[in-house]
Order: sequence, then structure tokens, then C-alpha cells
Amino acid sequence: MLEVEDLHAHYGRAHILQGVSFAIAAGEVLVLIGRNGAGKTTTMKSLIGLVRPTSGAIRFAGADIAGAETYRIARAGLGYVPEERRIFTDLTVMQNLEVGKRPARAGRDPWTPRQLFTLFPNLGEMPTRPGGRMSGGEQQMLAIARTLMGNPSLVLLDEPSEGLAPVIVEQMARAILALKREGVTVLLAEQNLHFAARVADRAAVIETGRIVWTGGIAQLASEAGRYLGV
Ligand SMILES: Nc1ncnc2c1ncn2[C@@H]1O[C@H](COP(=O)(O)OP(=O)(O)O)[C@@H](O)[C@H]1O
Ligand SMILES: [Mg+2]
Repeated sequence: MLEVEDLHAHYGRAHILQGVSFAIAAGEVLVLIGRNGAGKTTTMKSLIGLVRPTSGAIRFAGADIAGAETYRIARAGLGYVPEERRIFTDLTVMQNLEVGKRPARAGRDPWTPRQLFTLFPNLGEMPTRPGGRMSGGEQQMLAIARTLMGNPSLVLLDEPSEGLAPVIVEQMARAILALKREGVTVLLAEQNLHFAARVADRAAVIETGRIVWTGGIAQLASEAGRYLGV
């Protein structure tokens, strides 16, 4: 479904992505795992067109989207939930969801607030709460739910477990597993090996802008643990 090949990206003269290659099959959860500063967010921003790659290919649903405009990439079915949980703090939960609404994808039922409240029961308990009066975990869930209202076929989640209390992390893990059951393909960026192992099928370990290991999630802890310093 997504194929990234020898992707390079710079910030000014700093060569950040130095040949990132990986692929995701439809229905899979792949975790891009690596330490702080390894290039996870830059990879995601390159995929969604917020960073213009200097070279390399990004094939998504049959087209090369490298360097395409963000709105076109989103329209092609790529959803992005940034690290900084951009929700509208003055809008309620329902209004935030409405803002994210986009046409359904051919051959699939569109997401509705009702289904999203099944996925994230916390949100269902506060449909009229303004985004600014929610906890960090609730805001993270709302950010994901709002992105799903766009009916993406592939969702990029940048460190969804970051800074959340353990009980909320567990709810997040269950929601991602439920998403997978719904057939949504997920690319997750994580530093948290425990969370990654709970939700992902496969892992790609990123280190200073390069993928240094790819494999099944069960092999990650034993074989790739040394890259992650665990
Ligand atoms: N806007 C920017 N300008 C310059 N350097 C940046 C910028 N954003 C990130 N970087 C640098 O790029 C590298 C990768 O960052 P990032 O992709 O955010 O890593 P990660 O998400 O894995 O923590 C880091 O060295 C970081 O300091
Ligand atoms: Mg990051």
C-alpha cells in the first residue's frame, strides 16, 4: 500500500533523512521506532508533504506522491495525526469531528461520530466538551478520531502514547488494535518499545535518518533491542 524508497530530506543544509526505505501492506500496523531525533517525525512529514524530500520515491496507492502538495496527499487517503495533537480548543468534541469530515472512500463505509465513540468511549461521554478542557489523553484520542473522519486508508500516528498515563496508553493501544480490525492501515512512530510491541505487526528501526533493522514485532525485542538502548 505504501512503499518508501531511499528517501532523503534536509532542513537547510542538515541532511536528516539519509536513505529511508520501508513498505507497508494494506491492513498492517508498522511501527517506525527510534530514539528522539532519529528522524521519525521528519519521515512522516515527508510522507504527507510538509517536508519536501530531496530525493527518493514514496508510492502510495499506486502513485508517486513524493513532493506532492499536502492537500492532494490527504485527498489520496493519507491521514496524519501530528505529535502536537492539533485540535481546536474552542470547538467541542462533536464540532472537532465535523471539521475533520471528508467524503467516504470508494467501497468503504464512512466513519461516523457514533462509531468513533465506540472506538474511544471517553469521547462519547463528552460530546459537548470544548477541546481545551480535555486531558492530554482525551485530546490525543480526539485528534485521531478527527483524522478518521477524513476516511483515510492509511493513518500516520506520531507518538500517540507520548506523555500519557499508563491507563490511557492501554486505551490507546486497544483503539489502535480496533482500527486494525476495521481494516485501517497504520504507520506508527514510537520510542516506546512496550507500546509498539502491543500494537504493531512489524517494526522498522530508524537511527540517524536510516532504517537499520526491519522485522516482525516478536523479533524486535531480541534482535533490535541494542539499537534502541533497551
Ligand atoms: N525544523 C527543523 N529544523 C532543523 N532541524 C530539525 C527540524 N526539525 C527536526 N530537526 C532535526 O532533525 C532531526 C530529526 O528530527 P525528528 O524527525 O523530529 O526526530 P524524531 O521524530 O525521531 O524525534 C533531529 O536532529 C532534529 O533536531
Ligand atoms: Mg518526533
